[in-house]
Amino acid sequence: MTAEKDVRDREVFVVSGPRTPFAKIDGPLAQLDAVALSVPVVRAAVRSLHPRSGPDAIVWGTVIPSLAVSNIAREVWLDAGLDPSVPALTVVQQCATSLAAATHAAAQMRAGRLELALCGGSESMSQTQIGLSRGMSRTLRRLAAGRGPTAALRTLGQIRPRDLRLSLPSIKERTTGMTMGDHAEVMAKDWTIDRGTQDRYALASHEKAVAAWESGFYDDLVLTAETFPGLEGDAIPRPDTSREKLGRLPPAFDRRSGQGTLTAGNSSPLTDGAAACWVATAAGLAGLEEPTPRARLIDWEVAAVDIDRDGLLLAPALAIPRLLARQRLRYEDIDLWEVHEAFAAQVLCTIAALNSRAWLRERVDVEAELGEVPVDRINPNGGSIALGHPFGATGARILSQTVKQLQRTGGRALVSICAAGGLGHVALLEAV
Ligand SMILES: CC(C)(COP(=O)(O)OP(=O)(O)OC[C@H]1O[C@@H](n2cnc3c(N)ncnc32)[C@H](O)[C@@H]1OP(=O)(O)O)[C@@H](O)C(=O)NCCC(=O)NCCS
Repeated sequence: MTAEKDVRDREVFVVSGPRTPFAKIDGPLAQLDAVALSVPVVRAAVRSLHPRSGPDAIVWGTVIPSLAVSNIAREVWLDAGLDPSVPALTVVQQCATSLAAATHAAAQMRAGRLELALCGGSESMSQTQIGLSRGMSRTLRRLAAGRGPTAALRTLGQIRPRDLRLSLPSIKERTTGMTMGDHAEVMAKDWTIDRGTQDRYALASHEKAVAAWESGFYDDLVLTAETFPGLEGDAIPRPDTSREKLGRLPPAFDRRSGQGTLTAGNSSPLTDGAAACWVATAAGLAGLEEPTPRARLIDWEVAAVDIDRDGLLLAPALAIPRLLARQRLRYEDIDLWEVHEAFAAQVLCTIAALNSRAWLRERVDVEAELGEVPVDRINPNGGSIALGHPFGATGARILSQTVKQLQRTGGRALVSICAAGGLGHVALLEAV
């Protein structure tokens, strides 16, 4: 029993890793698919290993499926030309994908099965493949099987107009047919988050990201123009934006009712990029060169909402109180809040729910007094609205900068990511 407890209590650490600069869809990274975006990140990450040490696993993920790649973790590792004996696992949890990669590795470490894992993910929105209908796919498979010209003509004759419909990837929730933006509009109305408040939030995200770049915060987290010619850093933060410019943008999702509040300016943009971080036990840390920034991963929680009742992107408002109540912490005990910004509206709704006693009592079943969310501690170096959001990479991007920020300031950090399907994945870290 004691031995089992020792294993469960094994400490786990997150170590900052590198990432690509992030750029909007069809921008400077458009020629690279999810594997090609990942390879330089993985190569850069392994440069922080001691000679002769290596990870026990790579856990990677991408959200938009590729026809040619299923276990992207393995393909990335092989394309990087690294030790082929390292096992590889792909995980997908939409926007929380690479946070899920990290907590999966951490759980394995607590079970005594891993010491050091490279975790991360990537997304190429620019290289998204368009699928054929099932009918057309079946026809073309038969043609490829090549049973002679007569059979081929007969097969072609079976094509129906509906088979010509293409399967266009879109950011729609499969069960509702609505986009993430449509859902965030509904949430904004439910929690009465107005356009001006969303725009102010978005402006602050840009201001903080621009200031962080100017102060050099991202210099050692983001690969340079040497690896990505023409990209001196993230291409998305806008020093030129303002309340007035944001206020003039038309609604991006609810364009007809005259009530739409979400715009291209207060939503995260469609983004290309890849990011990595390390997850390690104390023994695994010995495989990495100092002084890589590191923080202790204390605990994590994954929650899911009833999409119709609660709103698609509100699951962190279930996960955060559960995690904090379990750890006997209040909101004010968290010094750094790193919150994924799918939309300004989603962050603001989450804060409103976390501050609502009715929400905590009726939906979360948490009796503890958690206080008010200290909004000035959220995303001090900018968030996904300004930095961009390559779905598979965002978790590792957030973990790496959380660790770096914690090393500067000390204290505790909460990482929070909402994901399609009504999921929320949050994690608690502590400076070492
Ligand atoms: C919102 C969305 C539809 C906008 O797409 P888009 O119209 O192609 O966006 P663009 O980047 O071209 O921006 C549109 C315009 O707004 C302007 N704009 C965007 N952000 C701005 C800002 N911060 N300040 C000023 N102008 C801004 C652009 O310059 C552009 O202007 P132009 O038309 O004069 O060139 C798209 O980014 C999207 O779908 N985002 C959501 C992604 C999502 O669902 N993620 C999942 C989260 S869970």
